[in-house]
Amino acid sequence: MDKIVIEGGTPLRGEVHNSGAKNAALPILTASLLTSGCNFFRRVPDLVDIRTIKKLLGGLGVRFVEGEALGVDATDLTGIEASYDLVRTMRASILVLGPLLARTGEARVSLPGGCAIGARPVNLHIRALQEMGAEVNLKDGYIEAKAARLKGATIYFDLPTVTGTENIMMAACLADGTTLLKNAAREPEVSNLAEVLRGMGARITGDGTDVIRIDGCPSLHPTEGEIIPDRIEAGTFMIAAGITGGDVTVVDADPGHHDALIAKLRDAGMTIEIRDKAIRAAGGRIVSVDVKTLPYPGFPTDLQAQMMAMMAVGPGLSVITETVFENRFMHVGELIRMGADIVIQGNSAVVRGVPRLRGAPVMATDLRASACLILAGLAAEGKTVLSRVYHLDRGYEKIEKKFAALGARMERVKG
Ligand code: EPZ
Repeated sequence: MDKIVIEGGTPLRGEVHNSGAKNAALPILTASLLTSGCNFFRRVPDLVDIRTIKKLLGGLGVRFVEGEALGVDATDLTGIEASYDLVRTMRASILVLGPLLARTGEARVSLPGGCAIGARPVNLHIRALQEMGAEVNLKDGYIEAKAARLKGATIYFDLPTVTGTENIMMAACLADGTTLLKNAAREPEVSNLAEVLRGMGARITGDGTDVIRIDGCPSLHPTEGEIIPDRIEAGTFMIAAGITGGDVTVVDADPGHHDALIAKLRDAGMTIEIRDKAIRAAGGRIVSVDVKTLPYPGFPTDLQAQMMAMMAVGPGLSVITETVFENRFMHVGELIRMGADIVIQGNSAVVRGVPRLRGAPVMATDLRASACLILAGLAAEGKTVLSRVYHLDRGYEKIEKKFAALGARMERVKG
């Protein structure tokens, strides 16, 4: 298994390109199941998770045309099953359930199971489909769903589930009648998907708010679309500028997706400048601030670990509260091995800043925890060796190349 070796202490400087968003590309690729013909999507990032969803869709008969824009053609579907061996490697595979059921009338999708950051149930996805008239059974670890044609319904989500909102929004596009999603997720990735679905002829309004209306159609047609910039990748680089006292401009970004992060980084002593499609982030004297993660537009849970790395070298005390997932502090133990002073109390971590972290061999446990340890290694004195970097490759495109281009002393060691 590959490792990444980092020599800390160099302030990052320069420009970095913001890749397309993993969490927008995944639902947009599965949306291709809703229609025959070839869709074309620009700015699909080259990530392990994208290769996984393509393999899963390929197993259902979807064909791909590689090029500047990725062609995705679901004309001839040959299967209705998403198997455990693929779904267990990537929970977002659940995103085939809604479109597959709506297009073919049946779907057999493995229950994703938990992951490092939590149990991550999909009960809200299942209940919504049942409310739309689907017959759903759980058998041998699989979700078996059948519906000749889904019926529009008013769905209330107990929690603003991102992939739940996306799954049901896709299913509702081909339902008979109107579906209202209440307490829907408001993430930009939901709006990106809605935009693509409208391009296919779907009638959707309200995306980006907590009530989304979908008026079902008998069928959809192929479209062309563009994946939005990855706000979590951009945020990771902005925080990297802060923790190293550098000056980084993220280009090809969408500043409008970063309100909560920008406000927090400014409170934490950083200079943040907004340009048309770019964000300049310059580090200054770090100020210790509290952070509470919330559904969008609140502070993103996917940047909680990265922010903790920066607060670990702050001057004072920072309380970091995780409200979205029940076990998203797996990075704390590894930060402590690098000299951080952190105590977990329930769903909060109390971080007492230390003057410097010390490089050490550390282990990635999940995607964003890996990013946190990269940032900690960039700021630490000495050498950090990060193992299990396959977690990182799931969600960051060529990350060591992008950091090296900013002056980081970082290299991948093939293992
Ligand atoms: C999406 O996960 C993202 N993944 C996650 O990014 C992100 O952290 C998360 O949203 C929150 O923003 C993708 O978009 C592919 P949820 P998702 O359903 O949809 C509970 C990354 O690092 N819940 O919004 O799985 C759930 O347990 C990943 O890129 C239920 O109880 O998250 C959690 O506590 C990590 N029942 C909360 O809701 C359900 O049926 C939010 O989960 C669904 C969710």
